[in-house]
Amino acid sequence: MLFIVTLIMDTFEEMKTMGFVDEEIDPALDLFDEIEKLKKQKNAVLLAHYYQEPDIQDVADYIGDSLGLSQQAAKTDADIIVFAGVHFMAETAKILSPNKKVLLPDLKAGCSLADSCPPHLFKKFKEQYPDHLVITYVNCTAELKALSDIVCTSSNAVQIVESLPKDQKIIFGPDKNLGRYVAKKTGRDLVLWNGACMVHEIFSREKITKLKSRYPEAKLLAHPECEDVILEMADYIGSTTGLLKYSTNSPASEFIVATESGIIHQMQKDNPFKTFIPAPPNNNCACNDCPHMKRNTLEKLYLCMKNEWPEITVPADIIVRAVKPIERMLEISASLGL
Ligand code: 13P
Ligand code: SF4
Repeated sequence: MLFIVTLIMDTFEEMKTMGFVDEEIDPALDLFDEIEKLKKQKNAVLLAHYYQEPDIQDVADYIGDSLGLSQQAAKTDADIIVFAGVHFMAETAKILSPNKKVLLPDLKAGCSLADSCPPHLFKKFKEQYPDHLVITYVNCTAELKALSDIVCTSSNAVQIVESLPKDQKIIFGPDKNLGRYVAKKTGRDLVLWNGACMVHEIFSREKITKLKSRYPEAKLLAHPECEDVILEMADYIGSTTGLLKYSTNSPASEFIVATESGIIHQMQKDNPFKTFIPAPPNNNCACNDCPHMKRNTLEKLYLCMKNEWPEITVPADIIVRAVKPIERMLEISASLGL
């Protein structure tokens, strides 16, 4: 009997340290202070995407879009990179800094767009176009990056395609909406993988039109992951950083925001007297939250920094192949001043 109880307790303790069981946090702790202390103690840098909860954005060392976050991950001299974002972002950081420990508060923070492109199917797709160069959007798995020639983000996809010779044949994946947008902007005929993001595909053209009649002066800001019926209506299309900059530099005072709602926190912080309205989705959901991004919480972030777990690992052979297309993207971006 004692043996069974001991075994159960040991297993429970083991699961706790691995993060499978919620660890109690002393409610008296100020998590902002604790996270700041842990950063210093462990020489850790906290990188956060704009789609994270406001609390997490406020405690981060750097907040940015996918390109900015990759650039930070490549140049940091911290020992630990804590990535408040989703799995593919933390994986990209690990590929760029393989000797550093990379932590993600919740390993289940995935991405519907990355999931829409299983590497074994993409490999077969790619084999149908042997003379094509493969450009993949950074929102994909490390295995997919390893099958690519150049990676891109929403802030450099157009410029990367334009940097290639006009007669270069190109496969673009996994996001068909971004791919269509890039094809239109560059006049290139891209072979597209049929993938999409669950958050950016749900905006309703009809509801946005109605909203525009209530706010006739409002500018519609849209991320290029949106469907083309939404992009056609947009006053400005860009990455999260692009949308944020536009909202700050524009003389307009009202904006309808067609992307994940987390970005509105920075928009509102940078522009306290402007109004930001989330673009309405097709369904009855009141918000445009990404369920993957929003898996991370301040509590999980604190525990992950304290326990240095969950940690991101990428097989060495994948790192060797995936780093080349990411570095190619960073080099092209640097040469273009992006
Ligand atoms: P950017 O922040 O690079 O625009 O990416 C948006 C996104 O969907 C990340 O998941
Ligand atoms: Fe993936 Fe879309 Fe969520 Fe970004 S917003 S992490 S693309 S599911």
